[in-house]
Amino acid sequence: MVSADKRAFVIAIDGPAASGKGTLAKRLAAHFGMPHLDTGMLYRGVARVMLDDGRSLEDVDAAADVAESLDLAEIAEARLRGKEMGEAASVVAAYPKVRKALIDLQRRFAFQPSGAVLDGRDIGTVIAPGAEVKIFVTASPEVRAKRRFDELAKTDGSVTLDAVLADIRKRDERDSGRMSAPLRAAEDAHLLDTSALDIEAAFRAALAVVESCRSN
Ligand code: DC
Repeated sequence: MVSADKRAFVIAIDGPAASGKGTLAKRLAAHFGMPHLDTGMLYRGVARVMLDDGRSLEDVDAAADVAESLDLAEIAEARLRGKEMGEAASVVAAYPKVRKALIDLQRRFAFQPSGAVLDGRDIGTVIAPGAEVKIFVTASPEVRAKRRFDELAKTDGSVTLDAVLADIRKRDERDSGRMSAPLRAAEDAHLLDTSALDIEAAFRAALAVVESCRSN
């Protein structure tokens, strides 16, 4: 297994579903010219192969095998971003064997010489606990649901805010309540509550955190 204490400039962005962490990670990566990995896509990729192969999501060993041989090229697909895949990803992401199988891939990405930005749930706690910058992005469930609803409503007229909120709460519960690498802020993470911030303001706040860590 790739050790967690290799030196490289790593920016770890964690937080719950629809907190805005992905947008922030992408913008920080573009700003600093660093590669970015959305680690949720790995779990979504595992879920996608399981569903496409007609496997039960309860089949832990099959999910671990899929995770073991997952290729980064396999996860660049729009379909992975949908709600169904997010739900299924949250199920397979609770299996310790699946998480273990994806550690090396994430650490190799994190510790490349250029440094990297990774976003997910356990980047600052498990994948790169020595990351120079750790930001835990939050927002209230209501705000996150509204953001997700506005996005989904553009293409799906049948979606309701209540259903999206229920979905967010269910996902929070599963991601935070699992035994293996539950969603939580690292002790040394900077908390960034985006409930009252638009994307620009959230980006400026995240940038200020990175700059303060770089100058230390
Ligand atoms: O960030 P996302 O919605 O794409 O993530 C999909 C699911 O994958 C999420 O419900 C929990 C899981 N996940 C995880 O457990 N650890 C990560 N580092 C990233 C995502």
